[in-house]
Parts: sequence; C-alpha cells; structure tokens
Amino acid sequence: MATSMAGSYTHTMKLISGNSNRGLSEAISSYLDVPLTQCNIKRFNDMEVFVEIMENVRGKDAFFIQSTSYPANDHLMELLIAIDALRRGSARRITAVIPYFGYARQDRKTGGRTPISAKLVSNLITAAGADRVLTLDLHAGQIQGFFDIPVDNLISAPVFVPHIKKNYDDKPLCIVSPDVGGVFRARLLAKRLNADLAIIDKRREDAGVSEVMNVIGDVDGKSCILVDDIVDSGGTLCNAAVALREQGATDVAAYVVHGVLSGAAVDRVTNSPLEKLVITDSIAATEDMKKSKKIEQISIASLIGEATRRIFEERSISELFK
Ligand code: R5P
Repeated sequence: MATSMAGSYTHTMKLISGNSNRGLSEAISSYLDVPLTQCNIKRFNDMEVFVEIMENVRGKDAFFIQSTSYPANDHLMELLIAIDALRRGSARRITAVIPYFGYARQDRKTGGRTPISAKLVSNLITAAGADRVLTLDLHAGQIQGFFDIPVDNLISAPVFVPHIKKNYDDKPLCIVSPDVGGVFRARLLAKRLNADLAIIDKRREDAGVSEVMNVIGDVDGKSCILVDDIVDSGGTLCNAAVALREQGATDVAAYVVHGVLSGAAVDRVTNSPLEKLVITDSIAATEDMKKSKKIEQISIASLIGEATRRIFEERSISELFK
C-alpha cells in the first residue's frame, strides 16, 4: 500500500493522453504528480484508429484527456475507441476529459433536415462507456443536458481574471460580449473584475447586405476586452474590434477560451485592430499561433488538474469557482 500522496494516486488513478494535445496532458500530469499511462494509438493503412492501453487499468479511476479539435473527427474517434479500450480493460470509472468539446456549436436544428450533432457526439461518448465528462466552457451550458452522465463544465474565469487584473489594473475597463449569445460569459467576468459590460448586436437587415454591428453600452474612452468561447475564423472578434474602436474604445483585446483559429485566422487577427488575443491551451498551438506577436496562450492545466484531483477524491468542484 503506497503511503505518499503521489504514490497512492499512482496506484489508483490512471491518466491517459490522446494525440490532440499532448503538451496539456503532460502539464496536467505534472500538476498531479501522476505519470501518463503508456498508450499506443496507431492508424491502420486505411486510417482506422487502433488504441492499446499498455498498462493494467483493472479497477482504476481512469481519466482520458482529449480535445476534439482539428482534425476533429480523428480526435473524436480516438476518444471513443480509447474509452472502449478502457471499459474492456475493466477500468472502475472512466472520465472523458475534453478540454475543448468540438461539435458544440451544432447544438440545435438550424433549419429543416439539419442535425443536432452535439447531441449525437454526447450519445457516442456515453455509448462508448464514459462514466462522466470533464470539460471547459461549453459553447452552451445546456449541452450538459445532452448527457445522462455527470458533466463538470469548468469555466476559465479563474485563469483569465488574474491575467486581466495584471494587465489592466489602472484603466477604465469594459468587458464586451461579441454577440448576444455570449452575454452570460461576459457578465460573469465583468462582475468578477468590477468592470462595465457592453454587448454587440449583429444584425443583417436583408439577405446580401453586410452585417451592421450595434454596440449596446458605453465604451467611449475605455479599454475593451472581448470575451468569447471560441475564435475560429476570427471574423466575429475582428469585426467587433473595428466597431468598438469606431465607438471610441481606446484599445481592444480579446480573451477567448478555445483558439480554434482555422484557415487564415491568425493573419486576420494579426492585421486587425485587436491589440492582443489571449487564448487557453485547451487546443494545442500551431506554429503560426506561436509565431504571432498578438496571440498569447495561457495554461488551464492546473484548473483541469485540480478538477481531476477533486473528481478522484470525490470533492466539490464548484468550490473552485467561489
Ligand atoms: C459563436 O456563437 C461563438 O461563440 C463564436 O463567436 C464563434 O464561433 C466565432 O467564430 P469566428 O471566429 O469564425 O467568427
């Protein structure tokens, strides 16, 4: 029987990493002082995924860490197949740790004969054998209800707030939601920072006419921080930054949880009025992101590590956000 904390963890907790973000998994492993369990993820010639967990997991509390980021479908299949391997290897409990939960934007029917893919993905994860899910800033909180297993949906505020305070301590500050759907997230941050709140209302009056951005709230003479869950093409943030500067904002930055940054997004951000884009490492940074002087990545490893520890020890996670 191990006596040290690290020893007892090692004996009963198994941390396993998928291929999507090995750096984050290593940082979580180092936070918990629990080594990553060896896991062999291979492709057959036709690109089918094969997963082999190289250590005994029978009776263990297993945490498989995988963001379903680009290439989303490959990483999702890795996650599902790894959960299946853990279940067939008799793990006592399997937690799917999904720092970035892809497919979350498809959370409702957007027209006739369209899917609700976020629900389908939730069903797949449950059917594969996950007992619970640990994730971060879901695009819509209601996605938790797509699962009939417990979902812990962490928020990145404990990581963003100290960073903002350090960089904006003496400036009049306004937190801005770039669309109506993100008001909840922006309000939460504004409250914690004791800052003003503004909202951008995007409207396309007629098909084929470009979008009008109405800024609701007073941003004149203030430093504005746009807050969002996802930056993908960068269009939402860059257009919002232009609108805020037009309304008198002295400077505009953005704090976004998941840096999807596909296509020419890094260039778009670089050439925009945004002074800075701060993202978390829920998705591994590409070389372009690393080279960009405007993009800074801050780590959520300790937040996810602490939540993992609390799940393992059956302790409260909500206490982390008080
Ligand atoms: C939308 O509801 C999301 O919260 C983001 O605002 C959106 O996904 C950002 O996309 P993009 O960077 O492509 O404008």
